[in-house]
Amino acid sequence: MKCIKDVNFKGKRVLVRVDFNVKLDDRKNITDDFRIRETLPTIKKLIGDGARVVIMSHSGRPKKGGFEEEFSLIYVAKHLSNLLGKDVVFTQELLGDNVTNLVNGLKDGDVMLLENIRFYPEETKGDEAFAQRLAKLGDCYVNDAFGAAHRSHVSTAVIAKYFPNDKYFGFLMEHEVINLQRLMQNPQKPFTSVIGGAKISSKISVLQSLLNISDNLLIGGGMVFAFLKAQGKQIGKSLCEDDCLQVATDLMTKAKEKGVKIYLPIDVVVADKFANDANRKVVDIDNMPPDWLGMDIGEKTAAMYNEVILNSKTILWNGPMGVFEMSNFMQGTKSVAEATAEATDKGAFSTIGGGDSVAAINLFNLSKRVSYISTGGGAMLEYLENGTLPGIEAILN
Ligand code: 3PG
Repeated sequence: MKCIKDVNFKGKRVLVRVDFNVKLDDRKNITDDFRIRETLPTIKKLIGDGARVVIMSHSGRPKKGGFEEEFSLIYVAKHLSNLLGKDVVFTQELLGDNVTNLVNGLKDGDVMLLENIRFYPEETKGDEAFAQRLAKLGDCYVNDAFGAAHRSHVSTAVIAKYFPNDKYFGFLMEHEVINLQRLMQNPQKPFTSVIGGAKISSKISVLQSLLNISDNLLIGGGMVFAFLKAQGKQIGKSLCEDDCLQVATDLMTKAKEKGVKIYLPIDVVVADKFANDANRKVVDIDNMPPDWLGMDIGEKTAAMYNEVILNSKTILWNGPMGVFEMSNFMQGTKSVAEATAEATDKGAFSTIGGGDSVAAINLFNLSKRVSYISTGGGAMLEYLENGTLPGIEAILN
C-alpha cells in the first residue's frame, strides 16, 4: 500500500481528505468524535514532518449549492484545534484568491480546514475542472476518509489523478483496509455475521456477499420482518418493506444451498406504539398481536444469538437488533454487544461497523473489548461487497 509512513512531507502542501461527517447536538457540540480522533495519527505525522496540512471533508448532504449553516465545519475546526492543541486555520471557502493566499501563507506544521466541500455541487458530480482547481492547493494528496471512500466524488477519488506520484493512504485508511482484508481473506471459522438495521433494501447486496464468507447470519432490527413475512408469519404493524419479500426468500434459499445458517428471531418485544413509553410485552414469533409492532429481539432470541456468537472465531456486526436509542428496547442490541465482547475476550476477531452499531458499542462501554471498530458504515459494507472502493482504487492506480 502507498502509505504515508515512509515519506517525509517537510515543507509540502498536503491535501488530506478526511471524513469529519459527525453528529452535532442542538448546542453544536460534537456528540461522537470517533471519526475525528481516528485521523489524528495521520494529521500529527504530517505536522511532525513539517508539512502544511490542508484538510478537506464533507458534512451531511447539503442540497442548496452554497453555504448552509447547519452543515458548516466550523464547529469541527474548533474541536480539531482542541484535540491537536494548536490553532486550525478555517476558511469559509474552498477556492479563490483568499484560499490560495491562505494556503500559500501556511508555515511548516500549520493546519488548515476547508469549509464543507459539498457546498460545491461539483464535488458529488465528480467534476473534472473542479478537481483540477482543487488539486492546485496541494503538492501531495492523502486519502484518510475511509467513511467516504465508497463515493466517486472529486475529493475522494477524482482528484487523485492530479498527483500521479504523490498520492497516499493515511494511517486510518491503511488500518481499515488491513482489518477488512483480514475479515475477507481466510477468516478463522466459524464466521458469524450479525446484521441488523431498519431496512433490508439497503443491505441486500452485502447480505448476498456475506453468504460467501459466513457460516452463520444472525438477523435483527426492522429488516427481520421482511424475512418473517416472507415465511408467511403475521408481523402485526411492524416495519416491513413489502417489495423485498422475494429478496428475503431468495436470500434464505441461497443460504440453504451454500450451507449458511440464517437465524431469525423466535421471540420479539412488541409495543403498541413507536415510543419508549409504549406498552410492551414479549411474544413468541407466532403470536404477534395484529395492532402491535416489533421493537426488539426477545430474550430467547438473544440467548440463541449469544450462543452462536460465543462459539464463533470471527464476528462481523453491522446494525442494531432493535430500537436501541429507546431504553426500553435496547436490551437485544446490548446483549449482542456483550456477547461480541465476551467472544473477543476468548480470542475471536470482532469487527463493528456502521454508525448505529458503533454508537451502541460506545453506549454500552464495550468499545475496548472488541477487536476493531470501523469508521465506515456504507463504505465498510461496500468494501465487503466488492473487495475495494473508488477511494482506494484512486490511490492504487
Ligand atoms: C457516512 O457517514 O456514511 C459517510 O460520511 C458518507 O456520507 P454520505 O453517505 O452522505 O456520502
